[in-house]
Amino acid sequence: MFTQFMVTCSEGLEPLLADELQSFGHTIVNIARNTILVQGHLEQAYRTCLWSRLASRVLCPLFSSTELSPDALTGWVASLPWEDHFPAEASLAVRASLAPGVAWPQQLTALRVKDGYVDRFRELTGDRPPVDPRQPQVPLYIHVEAQAVTVGLDLSADSLHKRHLRTRVLAAPIKENLAAALLCLSGWPGKAGQFEELIDPMCGSGTLLLEALMMVADHAPGLQRQHWGFTAWHHHQPEVWQNLLEEAHQRRQAARTRPWPRLTGCDAAREAIEVTRENLKAAGYAADVQLLVQPLAELPESTCTGLVITNPPYGERLGDEAHSRWLYQALGRLCRQRRPSQVVTTIAPQVDWLDGMSLEHMRTERVSHGGLPRYMRVARAQAWVRRTKQLNPQVLATMTAFQEQVLSSWQALQVQGERCGRLYDGQLKDLSLRVDVYDDLLSVIEFDATQAAVFTPTLIALREVLGVQRDQVRLGRAGREARPDWQSIEDKGLLYRLDLARSDDPGLQLPLTGLYQHVLQRQPQRCLHLFCHNASLAMQIKHQGGYVQGWEPRPYWPDWAREQWALNGWADDSLAIECGDLNAMLGTLPRQDVILLTPPKSHHAEQRRQGFRWRDVQESWIASLMARLTPGGELWLVVDEKSFQLSDTLQQRFAMREHDLLPASCFSLRGHLRFYGNAP
Ligand SMILES: C[S@@+](CC[C@H](N)C(=O)[O-])C[C@H]1O[C@@H](n2cnc3c(N)ncnc32)[C@H](O)[C@@H]1O
Repeated sequence: MFTQFMVTCSEGLEPLLADELQSFGHTIVNIARNTILVQGHLEQAYRTCLWSRLASRVLCPLFSSTELSPDALTGWVASLPWEDHFPAEASLAVRASLAPGVAWPQQLTALRVKDGYVDRFRELTGDRPPVDPRQPQVPLYIHVEAQAVTVGLDLSADSLHKRHLRTRVLAAPIKENLAAALLCLSGWPGKAGQFEELIDPMCGSGTLLLEALMMVADHAPGLQRQHWGFTAWHHHQPEVWQNLLEEAHQRRQAARTRPWPRLTGCDAAREAIEVTRENLKAAGYAADVQLLVQPLAELPESTCTGLVITNPPYGERLGDEAHSRWLYQALGRLCRQRRPSQVVTTIAPQVDWLDGMSLEHMRTERVSHGGLPRYMRVARAQAWVRRTKQLNPQVLATMTAFQEQVLSSWQALQVQGERCGRLYDGQLKDLSLRVDVYDDLLSVIEFDATQAAVFTPTLIALREVLGVQRDQVRLGRAGREARPDWQSIEDKGLLYRLDLARSDDPGLQLPLTGLYQHVLQRQPQRCLHLFCHNASLAMQIKHQGGYVQGWEPRPYWPDWAREQWALNGWADDSLAIECGDLNAMLGTLPRQDVILLTPPKSHHAEQRRQGFRWRDVQESWIASLMARLTPGGELWLVVDEKSFQLSDTLQQRFAMREHDLLPASCFSLRGHLRFYGNAP
């Protein structure tokens, strides 16, 4: 029954969590935003509950449905065999989460699951299971996505970041799993001798020190937790759980026999040091850390290998922002002067605060902390040297060629009066990335993670040649689902809602620019766009006085189109997008000046699911669409399939032939993306 479970985390921690889960020996099935799907049995799920330092929750899906409306939820939940899983008398609570874009009411959704569950047991036993929102024996969750609803058991019962070790905290403590992430990112505790010491010079309530100690001490983060979500479950295996607890105790004892690095915590506030001391004592580590009341200015010198790790006051909740920014600079300068062989790890609300530390960066990650973006950086306590100067001649030559290409595309766009366009698309050997400009923002999508070594110099080269700031550059990686980065971008009098994190298409369909321009020049009064994406072309045609009927069978895009439409102040009912039966729609349509078929990439998973293959439909579809053109009308077909051959019938009967409409900058699509039309 139990073959897969889900592990959730804060946004941005997914890669680190995936590494952690793999270190447990787990098999990862899928990594999505906030959630990692793991293949495994109960023992693996229990291990994750007990040992994960980075996870938020461990969820066990029990039932799901793909055809549910909010109103049908209670009835569906009441039809499920809950009695196979839980005793009638066990207390219950339900937490609901919604995928982005799902408009179900969150509280009501949880309430409906609770009602359905209670109805089921009342029907069976005559009694209602009690509800306990604080410490339920059965903590259920419901997750609603666009296509599916899942209900299941929250094995962790409460967020796993709570270690139940600290007795008191002062203002602005860092969350434990974020503290653990900073340590993991730094490579702590490392191999023997890698770090001889660790210091937190602004330790507050001591969270980073405690997390660091727990790692050195092989102390399972869930060992103190008394309440779990699985104890009342009929499928709970107490002996498996007991064995894991036993193993955790043994590992902790064994760690005591090994030498530990020296740990030091400092803070300018006496109260902070007192609270840290109390917390360390309660956790059993009082004797393992040296604690000093002293300001950062007195950071002790050291020539050892070590880690300076700290969470300085951010300014939002503690102190004032301007003061904090300078404190980061002081931290960088003092580490360079007094701890030149050490690694320095910090977290900040703005990446330029970290840049201001002027340290040689090793890794920077963006995470979400309480819903706000945060940047974690691991650096060497050495002055930052511009990497372009250290590049070997071959890489330097590549950078120069890259800069030339980017600059010439940028200038070409400016000559054409365009504010958005593609600047670079993998023309150079060993530089597989895409650079788009969207007004004053740059989107850089990396296609090959193995090129990490040249990625940073490339970004520096890019910023240098275009004179843009770091915060104008948006980074993404193809194939990795990323948190959406919605931006409203203006181009030629229209506003577009673009998701710059989307590696396939942020929403302007730049590879289709040439075709769109051709269509716009014809100034069609009526245009039919099949696979109209987010209606970017429809907006442009409407803007010049024409009318577009769109058809888009893929969910999600019509909503996006609607948002973009509203962004331009147009009424929803002026947007004509159908998503149902194409033939029924065609039957009622007047003749069209232009018809476009721009299906997404042929191997696209959504398309495969729909069984859509050009080869199968080209003859019949195109013949019937041709019959709906006005005299002299044009039909365009875009195919993203290298092996596609236009049939002889279409070529001869409709004078369809291939046209070169791919923008020069869409280099990587050359040979794949082809444009066929009956234009003269
Ligand atoms: C955000 S809190 C650290 C929170 C801590 N990581 C935790 O989880 O509890 C920042 C700490 O920096 C300390 N601090 C601020 N300025 C300082 C300075 N110049 N020298 C040393 N400590 C300082 C404050 O007293 C505060 O305890």
